[in-house]
Order: sequence, then structure tokens, then C-alpha cells
Amino acid sequence: MIVQNLALDGFRNYDRASVSFCPGVNVICGENAQGKTNLLEAVFYLSGARSHRARADRELIGFDRDTASLSAHIFSRERDFTVEAILRRGARRTLTVNGVKLRAAAELSGVMHTVLFCPEDLMLIREGASARRKFMDLSLCQLRPRYAAALAEYRRLYEHKTRILRDQEEKPSLLDTLDDFSQRMARIGAILIHYRARYCRELSGQAALIHQDFSGGREILKLRYQTVSSLSNPLQPASALYPLLWEHMQNHRQAELESRCCLSGPHKDDIEVELGGRSARQFASQGQARTAALSLKLADRELHREDTGEYPVLLLDDVLSELDRKRQSFVLNRIKGGQVFITCCEEEKLEALDAGAAFRVEHGSIRST
Ligand SMILES: Nc1ncnc2c1ncn2[C@@H]1O[C@H](COP(=O)(O)OP(=O)(O)OP(=O)(O)O)[C@@H](O)[C@H]1O
Ligand SMILES: [Mg+2]
Repeated sequence: MIVQNLALDGFRNYDRASVSFCPGVNVICGENAQGKTNLLEAVFYLSGARSHRARADRELIGFDRDTASLSAHIFSRERDFTVEAILRRGARRTLTVNGVKLRAAAELSGVMHTVLFCPEDLMLIREGASARRKFMDLSLCQLRPRYAAALAEYRRLYEHKTRILRDQEEKPSLLDTLDDFSQRMARIGAILIHYRARYCRELSGQAALIHQDFSGGREILKLRYQTVSSLSNPLQPASALYPLLWEHMQNHRQAELESRCCLSGPHKDDIEVELGGRSARQFASQGQARTAALSLKLADRELHREDTGEYPVLLLDDVLSELDRKRQSFVLNRIKGGQVFITCCEEEKLEALDAGAAFRVEHGSIRST
């Protein structure tokens, strides 16, 4: 998947910009607050109709504008696509592929997949489980439409059950439906667990290989999927996981009523990350945490390629800082195949780049250098 060119009009601090990219490594340089992250955000948006950092589309529209448009020519599945998004203040957005309006944002996954690494992704290693669940969910939603649908349904059930538990004193009649909701959560939850377990198994193999290369053979990275404790083999089919999950929920019924929260289910899943046999969350250095997070993202990229036959577009925002020279050169030159976008502030960093295209971003305009 290759973004051949991108045109922005009223998107963030880009008044009007148009740029063509190379199919390999594209380095985007510029000082702080010039529009580097905004550019990656635009590409990311065109792969799923959402931003990695804005909560609402209106944040993406230029401060003094009422609409924003993003459009790109994308080469994918041996075909050319024109993907366009028009965002409007106070009105619905329009998404089109080759001029045809999309009914659901998820349809964009049929054109382009992206894997994004941004500074906040350090949290992937350091923070609690939710960052790692989000990572799994984002990837699986692009890869498996059935997963995306199951996740949306699970979230709906979770919210509903949480309200029942929370409001049990004011509205005790709601408790009549509690078991029904739990049962449905167990059924959908089993589907999520089955997908996640398989995803983690594949991810773990790829991440270990990449991390070994990245660290010059010095560090061993291991991933372990963690889910509801009573499931000894989460790789089993969903139909076999369901009764075990349902039993676990029933066993926690009283505790859920007392704590007023959903205690049992895959909404608490995690991926345990170990470096050299120790918890990366507790013991990794800053650079090691960044390297491990990046290994996870690069492994994810390999899984997308195995699945679709093409590399997703890799977006690396400000990844070079905090890495030593060897690790920087790995990022710039060893990520072979597929299109990559890397932003950085210091142009000297580019001396380590063997091939590719370089761009300069200044006050919301971009030119190749
Ligand atoms: N909706 C918007 N309209 C206009 N400008 C915006 C909008 N949202 C953000 N900006 C501005 O865009 C500028 C560039 O932001 P961006 O995050 O792309 O910077 P950057 O080049 O990545 O900088 P850094 O190196 O600090 O990460 C910021 O000054 C920000 O205030
Ligand atoms: Mg930035």
C-alpha cells in the first residue's frame, strides 16, 4: 500500500498543500509546531476515518475554516484508489473512495492499512493494560471486520451492564436483566478472546525476531497474552471458550454486584511484555521501552503483510529521539519493504539515511528537499 500523493485543504495548520511521496522511506523534517505530526495524522485519518489524538473531527478543521478536505491517491491491491474525506463544522463528514460515498468508516480498511508509532506509544510498555488492549484492537479491527463488529457489540453490552450494576439501588428492576447481559457478554467476549489469542501468538513470534535484530542480538523480547484466569487455553474456538467464560462470570456475580463494576471479561485483557525474562513495564530503560514498543509495531506491520500480501503504510512520529546511533540506523535503513513516513526535528539525523525522499515542513507548507 502506497500513498502516492496527498492534498490537504483547511486541515489543521495546512491551508492548502499538495505533495507527492516516494514508495520507500519519506523523511519529514521541520522545527517544532510546523505541521509534521499533522501530516501523519492526515494519512492515518484516511485509513480509518479517525485521528490518533483528536477526540472529535472538528479539532482537525483549520481554526478559521468551516470545512477541511483530505484526499490521496493510493496504490493498493494492484489498483489505484482516490480516497477523500470532507469534514464540516456542525455537519456530517463525507468519505468517498473513487467518488463513491462510503456507508461505514470501516470500509476504508479495504483500501489502506496504517501502523502508527507516536511518542505516546512509549505507554505501550510503561502504562497499564488499556494501552496494549487499544493496540491489539486497532490492529485487529483493520485486519478482521468480524472482530470490529464483535468489539463494538461487546462495548455496548459492557456499558449497559455497568449501568445496571451502578444504578442497582435506584432501579432494582434492572437487575432482572443482569444475567442476560452477562451471558451475551460471555458469548461475544469468547469471540474477542479467540481472535486476540491468535493475534498475540503471531505477534510474539515476529516481535522476538525484530527485537533481536534491533538490539544487535542483545535483548530477548517475549509477549504473553493475558486473559480471564480460568481460560487455560485461549486459543480454543470461541464455542469452547464461551461456557468457561460464562461460568467465570457467574462465579463473580456477587463480587460484581458489590463492587458495582464488570469484573469478569476480556475488557481487562493484557499483553505481558518481557525483556530478558523481566517485566519490561517495571525494568526497561527509556530507550529499551521505546525499542520494544517499536518492535511491537513493526511486528504488527509484518502480520498485516502476511494477511493482505502488502505492507501497511508505516507512520513513525518522532521515533528517533532517545535511540542511540545503532538503533537509529536500524530504523532508517533496516525497515525494508513498504512505504514509511518518519518525522524528525534535526536534519543531521538524515545523514544515516541511505535512500528515500526528504521533505521540509514549515508553517503548514511542505516541500521536498
Ligand atoms: N485545527 C487546527 N487549525 C490550525 N492549526 C492547528 C490546528 N490544530 C493544531 N494546529 C497547529 O498546528 C501546529 C503544528 O502541529 P504539529 O503537531 O503538526 O507540530 P509538529 O511539527 O509535529 O511539532 P513537534 O516537533 O513539536 O511535534 C501547532 O502549532 C498547532 O497549534
Ligand atoms: Mg509532532
